[in-house]
Amino acid sequence: MSELSVDHLLGIKYLNENDINLIFETADHFKEVINRPIKKVPSLRDITIANLFFENSTRTRLSFELAEKRLSADVINFSAASSSVKKGETLIDTVNNILSMKVDMVVMRHPNPGSGVFLSKHVDAKIINAGDGAHEHPTQALLDSYSIRERLGEVAGKKVVIVGDILHSRVALSNIFALKLQGAEVTVCGPKTLIPRYIHKLGVKVETDLKKALNWCDIANMLRVQNERMEISYFPSTREYTQQYGVNKKLLDSLDKEIVIMHPGPINRGVEITSDVADSKQAIILDQVQNGVAVRMAVIYLLASKIKR
Ligand code: CP
Repeated sequence: MSELSVDHLLGIKYLNENDINLIFETADHFKEVINRPIKKVPSLRDITIANLFFENSTRTRLSFELAEKRLSADVINFSAASSSVKKGETLIDTVNNILSMKVDMVVMRHPNPGSGVFLSKHVDAKIINAGDGAHEHPTQALLDSYSIRERLGEVAGKKVVIVGDILHSRVALSNIFALKLQGAEVTVCGPKTLIPRYIHKLGVKVETDLKKALNWCDIANMLRVQNERMEISYFPSTREYTQQYGVNKKLLDSLDKEIVIMHPGPINRGVEITSDVADSKQAIILDQVQNGVAVRMAVIYLLASKIKR
């Protein structure tokens, strides 16, 4: 039987192409399951999963919880804002207390880059990184590629532009790793101040002119400006950012071809994307959210199959 090459999902950079294909084939099966009248399978009745969220989340948190429940796992949820972290408890103490309640797998979102790797070295449970600071968001990149595959048939050979705040985006880095691994061409587009200097080392092109980037690509993945990770201003004003790097219907209609629009959410309507684009047939934003459940079911199922029972 095929299995993942990794024991944890800490980042796309630790996966190979076979891992991604296996996750997608498994997700195809679970997508069929969640479209049935009874959307559950009993596969993980003997597994307990803790969702530890030290940062805010809507989509990722709900999607993981639903994926776990669709697999019949027992689920506990932890939010740092209402926990003893506020009284000074460390990450390791927090997690070890939770694990002493016989937890098999931890899904964690944390503001510190590398927090998932750190945890995997100190605790005896499978770890899934649900976003570690500005580092990686592997399940987002997997569901993004899965959604491209669903809409356009395959990822290999496709031209993808990632637009916006590349510097602070874990979605951008995980997407670059995932898309390159599958043979897509990637360009990043945004103000020079929001593009990391090392980016060319990842095998991507840089384009600061949005219209040129859109005319080149098959898919545009629009990112939110991560104001919460900025201590200084990276562009003169939101209005100027929108004028240069926001997509609207008039801009898309002026292109040589119809492209697919993606967004990981949350959307700032009227900033990086207007409502007439976000809610159009060109956008696959809600397909991404829907596919997130099947992709996360696949990741959880495949990692759980490596637990010694
Ligand atoms: N895409 C994403 O990570 O959204 P949330 O922050 O709402 O989980």
